[in-house]
Formats: sequence, C-alpha cells, structure tokens
Amino acid sequence: MDSRDYRDTVGHFATGVTVVTTNVGGSLHGMTANAFCSVSLEPLLLLVCVDNLATCHGQVTAAGSFAINILAADQEDLSNLFAQRLLPVEARDGRLHGAPFRLDDHGEVLLDGCLAHFSCALHAVHDGGDHGIFVGRVREGAIHRPGEAPLLYYRGRYATTAAG
Ligand SMILES: Cc1cc2nc3c(=O)[nH]c(=O)nc-3n(C[C@H](O)[C@H](O)[C@H](O)COP(=O)(O)O)c2cc1C
Repeated sequence: MDSRDYRDTVGHFATGVTVVTTNVGGSLHGMTANAFCSVSLEPLLLLVCVDNLATCHGQVTAAGSFAINILAADQEDLSNLFAQRLLPVEARDGRLHGAPFRLDDHGEVLLDGCLAHFSCALHAVHDGGDHGIFVGRVREGAIHRPGEAPLLYYRGRYATTAAG
C-alpha cells in the first residue's frame, strides 16, 4: 500500500474536527487537526498527532501545554482558517486571526462557539514517523453547546450529522 492509497483508505474513518491552540508567552497559534483521540481515564489523557513540519509542533513543545477546541457543524470557516499556515501572533482585542477567543486560567486559548474544549498540560511526546504524537494530561474541560451537531471530516470532505 502506498501513501496515496493509505490516505484514501483511512479517509473512510469519519472523525470530528478540532483546532489545537497554543500560547507561548503571549504568542498564540492555532492548527486544525482531526488526528485526535481520547487515550486514558486514569489519568485523564488524550492525544493529537501534529506534522513535524507544522508550526504547531514547535509551539506545543515550547508551550508545554495546549488546548483542544472541538468544532461544531457551523464552524467550517474556522477549520479552514486554521488549516492555513499561520504564524504565531500576539492576538489583540480577543481575536486570533479574526476568530474570537478567551484565555482560561492556565492561559490556554479557547475559541468561541466550539462544542467543547480540553485544556491540557503536555504529558509526553512520542515519535510518530512524520508526525509527533502529543499526549496531553487534561487539566480542565467543558461542554459549551450540548447536543448540537459536530463538524465531521470524511473522505477528505466536511460532513455533519443530526444533533445527538
Ligand atoms: C480537516 C483537517 C484536518 C487536519 N488534521 C491535521 C492533523 O491531525 N495533524 C496535522 O498535523 N495537520 C492536520 N491538518 C493540516 C493542518 O491544519 C495544516 O497543515 C496547517 O497549515 C498547519 O498549520 P501550522 O503549520 O501553521 O501549525 C488538517 C487539515 C484539515 C483541513
């Protein structure tokens, strides 16, 4: 199987869509990621896989922490925004590249309008080939829009489902 066939095949696994956000001394960054999953309940761990070449990789490493913002069906624009190669910025007026956010008590960037979020300390980084596997220890999390429809990604396209 080559990488093209692999991508086509793994694309049949439907996922949600998240934005990973970081704060390195007030320099904020976001990156769209669907390679996210829950890992452990004791302790509370989750993971996200980040391309070794993505700006996000160095930012999470430098920050030692990150947030996972779980996108709603009406946040496709936010997904597309943070799927661009953006440089970290000192965000002003509570906006990151135009997207409104707030900082939590740990300084993590929580984007407005998301279904839910997790705020994590970086627990471990594992070798994942051309990606780094970032394991986060969950410090805090919340549901903001209970029961509303998620943004999904399936076969290289956005999709959604009825609210559940
Ligand atoms: C739906 C979707 C899911 C993505 N999932 C991931 C992912 O899990 N990991 C990753 O490294 N890049 C993923 N990407 C690509 C990054 O968002 C993209 O390469 C981004 O420009 C990297 O940002 P940065 O280099 O500014 O950090 C995804 C893109 C889209 C549209």
